[in-house]
Amino acid sequence: MKIAVLTSGGDAPGMNACVRAVVRSTINNGFEAYGVFDGYKGLYEGKIKKLERNDVGQILNRGGTILGSSRLESFKEEAIRQVAVNNLKALGIDNLVCIGGDGTYRGAMALNKMGINCIAIPGTIDNDIASTEFTIGFFTALDTAIDAIDKLRDTSFSHQRCTVVEVMGRNCGDLSIFSGIATGAEIVITKDTGYNEEDILKQVKKAESMGKRHLIVVVAEHITDVARLAQKIQDNSGYEARATVLGYIQRGGTPSSFDRILASKMGVHAVDLLKEGKGGYAVFTKSLDVGHIKLDEALSINIKPSDLYQYLHKLN
Ligand code: F6P
Repeated sequence: MKIAVLTSGGDAPGMNACVRAVVRSTINNGFEAYGVFDGYKGLYEGKIKKLERNDVGQILNRGGTILGSSRLESFKEEAIRQVAVNNLKALGIDNLVCIGGDGTYRGAMALNKMGINCIAIPGTIDNDIASTEFTIGFFTALDTAIDAIDKLRDTSFSHQRCTVVEVMGRNCGDLSIFSGIATGAEIVITKDTGYNEEDILKQVKKAESMGKRHLIVVVAEHITDVARLAQKIQDNSGYEARATVLGYIQRGGTPSSFDRILASKMGVHAVDLLKEGKGGYAVFTKSLDVGHIKLDEALSINIKPSDLYQYLHKLN
């Protein structure tokens, strides 16, 4: 059995950890592992190389993706995809793990219909894949955003300013609302909250009347021009205001503990599915619900060993 892996769309921290898990798990099952370089573009161009265990050494903690990534609009065309399928078939590969966002999922679904067993793994900082609670890369990007906003808070406080910060996320507000909560932002504006300038200015004035020395306003990208919003706030309140766009630093950096573990588990899971002959699936996680339980019941439960033990031997 031959299993190829690719990363596609916007890169995300933890993609390398996932590539490593797919390759190591494939080899540990006695199968051959292949890497497709530069996403679907590379698949179309035939950039496919056999990978050995050591090819994915020293990458678990590295940001970006050693396989490279791309966005290929024309992959929507069947003729383009057919070339990609032929490239895989020429090497005897009919299993493919595609790590990326929703565009990657659509590509995987289309390839699956064309006879390649495909498993999609959610890898994007945006956390905008509805079938999974969290995507690989989201928490690392969140940590980056939090770190940046914490730093902005220092200077915002010193200068009694209103600091407007634009956070990535494409059309999803998760990075904004999660970072807003974690940094104690006064106002968070996303597609879900809607953009109502009058209402925002009211909130700023309310904060001012409460005696707040400074303010943090987190805005999801594509909602508004943050420099213009900052100017508007400055013109209509007692705060000086400054805007910062966090931008692409949110995509880089060493993956967090959560992303490394999620990526490792998902990579192994994808190979297990392919081993069972299953294609056309998307891997997901569902884990962080908050609930409650009677105290006596909570104390009567025995600690179970972590299910991570079963992954360990597959990853080395
Ligand atoms: O999907 C990840 C992401 O960083 C989004 O947050 C952002 O909107 C987009 O990619 C930027 O894409 P590109 O790298 O093509 O400029």
